[in-house]
Amino acid sequence: MATGAGDRGQLKVAVLVDRPPRGGTVGRDPHALVQSRATAQAVCTALRELGHRPVLLEATGNLLGRLKALAPDLVFNLATGLGQKKQQANVVAVLEVSGIPFTGSPLESHVLALHKPLAKMVFRHWGIPTPAFQVFQDPEQPLHPGLPFPLIVKPSSEGSSVGIGPEAVVGDERALRTAVARVLAEYGQSALVEQFIPGREFTVGVLGNDPPRVLPPEEIIFPAEEVQEAGSIYGYVMKERDRVERLCPPPLSAVQREEIEEMALLSFHALGCRDYARVDIRMDRAGVPFVLEVNTMPGLQPGYSELPRLAQACGLDYTALIGCLVEEALGRFRRVGSSALFRCTDRLASGVRPVPVVFLPGAGGSEVESLVRYPACD
Ligand SMILES: Nc1ncnc2c1ncn2[C@@H]1O[C@H](COP(=O)(O)OP(=O)(O)OP(=O)(O)O)[C@@H](O)[C@H]1O
Ligand SMILES: [Mg+2]
Repeated sequence: MATGAGDRGQLKVAVLVDRPPRGGTVGRDPHALVQSRATAQAVCTALRELGHRPVLLEATGNLLGRLKALAPDLVFNLATGLGQKKQQANVVAVLEVSGIPFTGSPLESHVLALHKPLAKMVFRHWGIPTPAFQVFQDPEQPLHPGLPFPLIVKPSSEGSSVGIGPEAVVGDERALRTAVARVLAEYGQSALVEQFIPGREFTVGVLGNDPPRVLPPEEIIFPAEEVQEAGSIYGYVMKERDRVERLCPPPLSAVQREEIEEMALLSFHALGCRDYARVDIRMDRAGVPFVLEVNTMPGLQPGYSELPRLAQACGLDYTALIGCLVEEALGRFRRVGSSALFRCTDRLASGVRPVPVVFLPGAGGSEVESLVRYPACD
């Protein structure tokens, strides 16, 4: 079920990947290099199946010049910042300057999503529930009285659960100070201290634009031996070793599912995301959902990452998913309007029905527009 090159003809697609930092290390997430290579290979294969010509390109210091020299029709951006997470946004800034069409969100979405406290301020502004929080620049900073224990302490700007292990969940002031000091020293960035949300965890994919589609939520099921008193977390070791089980679709009432999907969609819009993203959500013990974060460059490694799996659950195989992202990006840059998009959505499983549900800020930030959501696979 691939979206072939069709009347677009063969495109030269630069598949942009991270360059491993000097010395072959990959900063704080050694697993990232393996994932990055496997993903690049899979994307190249899918692009060939779609009739395009992929060319691998590393995101180096002279990226702008090399892009101009290569002159691709499109950049398929997979550079997530192996050494430093903020490199993800730096690369997008270069892509925007180049004027060459590229896949994924614009610069401002990456900047917001990569800085979790900033993203949370935006969520709160739009009334999207997110755990109460405080940013610590110093371990001795007074704790806000509105933040009762247990709390979770995490680096403000990391991904892949880097810096998040069992010691991140703290039950008293002493443990809090120790965890904050560790984040400041080890990660050289502020510590985000959040209300600990103890219940079930979900990740939700959002795909496309005009309007974006919410893919079915996936529940993360923690292994029984990892269940902690406060509640389990999806920490670095668990993620790296792929030790959780996943349920898709998860057991949720229609109302709960709608609530989670709506939260994911609102979060996607609130950060101005494009093409695709993955939203992490947790419920409290009463079943009330809170958004933890939006991943503006979610993994695309087949057989490992969530987004390809969630797309598959909607009948969109890997090649079709990559084709969809290509079409979204090209459609936007060529101002094709929605026709390219609907060629993709037609390939989703039947049963897609439009439901007008949410009101959100429009592009200008002040007016309100009605959106239409397409929950696939009901
Ligand atoms: N406020 C919270 N309450 C409970 N658990 C939390 C909270 N914040 C984070 N966690 C746990 O820690 C995990 C990682 O947190 P988060 O998603 O913020 O980190 P990340 O490094 O950006 O992850 P990703 O791999 O999705 O990029 C979550 O999946 C969840 O299990
Ligand atoms: Mg996450």
